[in-house]
Amino acid sequence: MSNVSGFPESHRVPELFQAALAVQRNAYAPYSHFPVGAAILTPSGRIHAGCNVENAAYPVGSCAEAGAIAAMVAAGETEIVALLTICDSIEVGTCCGGCRQRVREFAALDTPIYACGPDGVRAVFTMEGLLPTSFGPDNLSGFVS
Ligand code: THU
Repeated sequence: MSNVSGFPESHRVPELFQAALAVQRNAYAPYSHFPVGAAILTPSGRIHAGCNVENAAYPVGSCAEAGAIAAMVAAGETEIVALLTICDSIEVGTCCGGCRQRVREFAALDTPIYACGPDGVRAVFTMEGLLPTSFGPDNLSGFVS
């Protein structure tokens, strides 16, 4: 059994893990051979998942977090309660820099981010821990309408 227990029940880690694991299997990663899955819990209780989708033109590929965010927004939701990612890295695999900023758009500073391997949760971070002193939507208030 994967290590997905012992976390706050409201984060629904076992379900996020299963959702991320399921889409990781569908990742399109023929170049890196590094499939990633991501799952987002929203305030409605829904879970939105995404996987990385690579491209022969390498820079056009997209990360799993970007896919999960796109699914969330397409479903009409814009708030991340918890995020979980899974990859097969031996080291703890955290969100890349670009994805930290993508997630920041929809997360609170204390939003939990679970980094998993096939064995379960390996590390838990907060949004602020992964992206300190970040630039977010609040920084634009009063400048754009
Ligand atoms: N990748 C993600 O999907 N999320 C991350 O946060 C890190 C990297 C993907 C991008 C690429 O398809 C593969 O992992 C190797 O970098």
